[in-house]
Amino acid sequence: MLHDVSDGPHPRHDGLQPLLDELARIAALPLERGETLPARAYTDESFHRLEHDRVFRGDWLCVGHVSQVAGPGDYLRTDAAGEPLVITRDEEGGLHALSRVCRHRFMDILPPETTPEQGSLERLMCPYHTWTYRLNGEYAGQLAGAPMMNKVDFDRAACRLPRYRLEEWNGLLMVCADPAVPPLAPQLAELTDRLAPYGLADLVVAYTDRWEGVPANWKVAFENGSENYHHMGTHASTLDTLVPGKDTVVDESEGRWFSMYTPFALDAPGLAEGDAPRVGTLIPGLGERQLSGMTVAGFFPNLVMALLPDSVTFVRWVPTGPATHDALVTVLVPAQAERDPDFGAYVEASRRQFEVIQNEDLVAVRGVQRGLATDPAPSGGRFSHLERPLWQFQRYLADRLAPADPAPAPAPAQR
Ligand code: FES
Ligand SMILES: [Fe+2]
Repeated sequence: MLHDVSDGPHPRHDGLQPLLDELARIAALPLERGETLPARAYTDESFHRLEHDRVFRGDWLCVGHVSQVAGPGDYLRTDAAGEPLVITRDEEGGLHALSRVCRHRFMDILPPETTPEQGSLERLMCPYHTWTYRLNGEYAGQLAGAPMMNKVDFDRAACRLPRYRLEEWNGLLMVCADPAVPPLAPQLAELTDRLAPYGLADLVVAYTDRWEGVPANWKVAFENGSENYHHMGTHASTLDTLVPGKDTVVDESEGRWFSMYTPFALDAPGLAEGDAPRVGTLIPGLGERQLSGMTVAGFFPNLVMALLPDSVTFVRWVPTGPATHDALVTVLVPAQAERDPDFGAYVEASRRQFEVIQNEDLVAVRGVQRGLATDPAPSGGRFSHLERPLWQFQRYLADRLAPADPAPAPAPAQR
């Protein structure tokens, strides 16, 4: 199913074979002898293009939360793997992921300059020459009207916006550009069970935030978000006082997802100096375990969630080049939180706290990228057992970028 870089000329992926061989070697190591990825995987233009083709265009990507398109006619503008998309909900409740590229002269149908990121509409209308597209059921994306096109030979029936696959996984909107990729939910069944107490699909978006143009490869930031080991350094006076990295227990999951749990420190003095942690409305139905600690969970390629008693924050890291990315943050709360008179103050405090943590993380993320870009490139960094998700991530990447030669029977991955 996946393309073999050795089976012919692929100018976009020139000269990568030694790097892919090294990726395959490292991914086959047991965690106890695990090593960091080669530095070139974080700096190389061809490797970046290969990731775009095989990871970001060849797998499921999160584009938002179901509460952002709750009612009939609601839409959410988003991008996936560089494709401008719009998520729509039709009158029967069905969700669709449509290209935003008009079939006339390829204008963005919902340009950010003049349209909000989310809202409600009856039809999609391109603002350039007013071609309109339907939103309903099997007709979603079908051309509805195109003025002044009756004097030319034009096949209206064949004109429709391309549709992407869309799955709702625990309230997260997941899209995929590749029709051959297996459905996502069965691959995450165990994670679904673990996160069930939080009722992710019933939460609502409190706010979103984005950090654009971060000067680091997306994997540096994703890997940083996938371990709590760094709490003791990067967040020593903030997060580590509340959820100490040394108390984190990483689940021994396999495959494309991971999870870990950290009990709250009993004497937590607060998240930021002079800024005691502000607890909002508790997510209903949580058990003792969820009320007494933080779960961090995620799945590849690029999504991590931090689950707390009053909120679930999910972050996506989107590559914009070999050594730059955007970080997209979405904070979910229970619907009843919005009715609390203190909700505005809660959101403000939460934003402030997140910014403090994010700025600490950015010091590490930018610093690691500087280290990776040195010459000669560093190699052979070793993992703590707390970095198991990074080791799993290597296996995921090798599976997609450097698949074993299928000719002889492939050796089973060793642990
Ligand atoms: S480009 Fe959309 S109507 Fe012309
Ligand atoms: Fe961090």
